Amino acid sequence: MKKPSMKVLLPLGLALTLCGAAASAENNERGRVLYGLCVHCHGEQGGGNALALAPAIAGLGEWYVKGQLEKFRSGIRGLHADDIAGLRMYPMSQMLGKDEDLAAVASYVANLPPTSPAPTLSGGDAARGKARYATCAGCHGAQAQGVQPLGSALSRLNDWYLLSALEKYKAGIRPADPARDPQAAVMIGLTAIFPDTQSMKDVIAYIETLRE
Ligand code: HEC
Ligand code: HEC
Repeated sequence: MKKPSMKVLLPLGLALTLCGAAASAENNERGRVLYGLCVHCHGEQGGGNALALAPAIAGLGEWYVKGQLEKFRSGIRGLHADDIAGLRMYPMSQMLGKDEDLAAVASYVANLPPTSPAPTLSGGDAARGKARYATCAGCHGAQAQGVQPLGSALSRLNDWYLLSALEKYKAGIRPADPARDPQAAVMIGLTAIFPDTQSMKDVIAYIETLRE
């Protein structure tokens, strides 16, 4: 058989690329529309809103956002009676009943540019935090940029949210059901290295120095 010439292959390749682009554009559009449900708490640009207890989510890894939305949807996260913030997010996840919708909004959130939220905590000692962060770097990355699938980006989150997340793991209210969440169980175990709130603030002060 005669080899197909470049004249034939190039347009074919282009057509396939455009086809893929059309499908992903449609998905982006779906994600954008669905994100309208989230704006009220997480903000137009995904920068979070402290009053709503909703963290910055822009630019978190798609795998992580998808995974957490699934955890909320199944009630593994967010249903503990003492988890005030989680109880606000849980009903939202119920609006993402279709897997395609959940995936589309996760992709939209992941593709929003990271927002670098302003620091709100004071009193953390970044130098002391740096030493403790050595325990975290293997999973969350030396620059807290996230290491799929071990640990997510921490550098994109609000400092107040980082503190509340660590406190919730330590108090055993995130996840709502540790037996169904071996990943989070690891984090619960790790919070043993924090004797108090100050030591958490120190690590967070260090993470703040790693923002892009
Ligand atoms: C009523 C307010 C509210 C709305 C609306 C809302 N969220 Fe949330 N969301 C929260 C709160 C509060 C948290 C923090 C939960 C916690 O502290 O554990 C959260 C947490 C999250 C997280 C976990 C972040 C992390 O770092 O683990 C993701 C992802 C998320 N929301 C995505 C969404 C998406 C997508 C939508 C729209 C479909 C949405 N949220 C709508 C309040 C809301
Ligand atoms: C063995 C891997 C591993 C190590 C080491 C680790 N983490 Fe995690 N971390 C995870 C995983 C997995 C999750 C997601 C758990 C979940 O779904 O709730 C997580 C979640 C978190 C969250 C919540 C993020 C969010 O967006 O809600 C924070 C904050 C956090 N880790 C901080 C730390 C700190 C600080 C250290 C060091 C003391 C650390 N982690 C060490 C794996 C790790």
